[in-house]
Amino acid sequence: MLDRDKTPLLDALKKYATSNHAAFYTPGHKRGQGISPELIDCFGAEVFKVDVPELPEIGSLFDSQGVIQSAQEYAAKTFGAERTYFLVNGSTCGIVAAILATCGTGDKIILPRNVHKSAIAGLILSGATPIFINPEYDPVIDIAHSISLKSVEAALKQHCDVKAVMIVYPTYFGVCGDVEKIARLTHSYNIPLLVDEAHGAHFAFHPDFPTPAIKTGADISIQSIHKTLGALTQASMLHVQGDRINIDRLTKSLELVQSSSPSNLLLASLDAARQQMARDGKQLMSHTLELAESARNQISQIPGLAVLEIIHPTPGFVALDKTRITVNVSRLGLTGFAADEILVDYDVIAELPSLQNLTFIISLGNTHADIEKLVQALKTLATKHKQVFETKSAKPVTGRASAIAPFNLESMLALAPRQAFYADTETLPIEQTRDRICAELVCPYPPGIPVLIPGEIVTNEAIAYLRNIQSLGGYISGCNDSSLKTLKIILDKS
Ligand SMILES: Cc1ncc(COP(=O)(O)O)c(C=O)c1O
Repeated sequence: MLDRDKTPLLDALKKYATSNHAAFYTPGHKRGQGISPELIDCFGAEVFKVDVPELPEIGSLFDSQGVIQSAQEYAAKTFGAERTYFLVNGSTCGIVAAILATCGTGDKIILPRNVHKSAIAGLILSGATPIFINPEYDPVIDIAHSISLKSVEAALKQHCDVKAVMIVYPTYFGVCGDVEKIARLTHSYNIPLLVDEAHGAHFAFHPDFPTPAIKTGADISIQSIHKTLGALTQASMLHVQGDRINIDRLTKSLELVQSSSPSNLLLASLDAARQQMARDGKQLMSHTLELAESARNQISQIPGLAVLEIIHPTPGFVALDKTRITVNVSRLGLTGFAADEILVDYDVIAELPSLQNLTFIISLGNTHADIEKLVQALKTLATKHKQVFETKSAKPVTGRASAIAPFNLESMLALAPRQAFYADTETLPIEQTRDRICAELVCPYPPGIPVLIPGEIVTNEAIAYLRNIQSLGGYISGCNDSSLKTLKIILDKS
């Protein structure tokens, strides 16, 4: 019987931290002795004592036994999986590995158009062919939700040779689709359901959250423990269950995409965050939900602001993570990007600005004082920009035509992403790239949702959308020229 209060990896590291040995192993700083004084000043000295490699009592992340394996077994129990893998390269590497484990070259995978760019990396590395589904889209608030059960059903009927289905649950905005029914449907075709649950690591710890994907039957769920729980940035987990996943291939895939020197700081933070949630999760999440509820109630009463709520379930929006607060600022005559900059001056930093909205994450690390500061800052913002919604008609700042989300358009894939990635290319002024095949990922950030992926035809709408995001203060990542004056496209040899 596992004692969930234990932290096997953390305990082993502590022993090395207090031992008085001479170190002749990596890393070169030798338990902090070679670290620059400036860094010690910032980090403190103690942390470097546990920055040790795969020493005998610690072993490797990829060992089938030892303290890391025990820590992973505790995690599987805590999160309700059959098996859990610790990840040191974020959910990013878990998503790539899940695709590598289920799809080879030419295999089809169904996934939403608003996937995170890590899934595109998975397509390039595996050679899989994406069958993209447009997410449900709310044009009033300009937010893409989840994909619907119906759309997955239609795609499965049309493509009987699909090897896997991937969904994002919840979205960056905390919106959840009908994962339970999608899992049942996918399984009726004997296909695995892979869930990007990067933003839902806390779901297992309170009944008021949407159901965790693994509990609904998902075959794989990948969670960024660092995003919503108490682990260090990058520290994530991949949970797996059932017999639709080849465990050997999954394990090998994870080895392919992770460092052979995984940081024990990251791994120990997973061990400790898991123990913290196993012991105190319900109480911590009750408190977090209270804070979020208080923020929600107060913000929704501020004139000119609107908070994203679930009123009637729709096919792409059946549940909401209440700790994710999305505030629409468009009636103040501001974009989310502009409001974000103003809030920084009031000492409030949001998670995600978008064209009309600002999204805030409330988590176990927040305090009542944080919530007060947030509410006060939003009140000041709304008061200063009050005239706009009082004197003008309350219409969004972004004209619909210019703000059409590209994932609402039909994706036109001319080449598999892997073929496009390896093809000969040329770089042209972006105006000359219309109707040509894109050779690079073009991804406005945040939220990191690709607008063009390698292999897709460049459309007028995609260029217009990217230009609009840029002009409103967002920035473009993934491509060589982030100013978007030029774009890399496939060389036309005809
Ligand atoms: C929906 C989604 N999936 C996956 C990821 C990647 O997670 P990580 O940062 O842990 O690599 C992110 C990151 O923002 C995300 O928003």
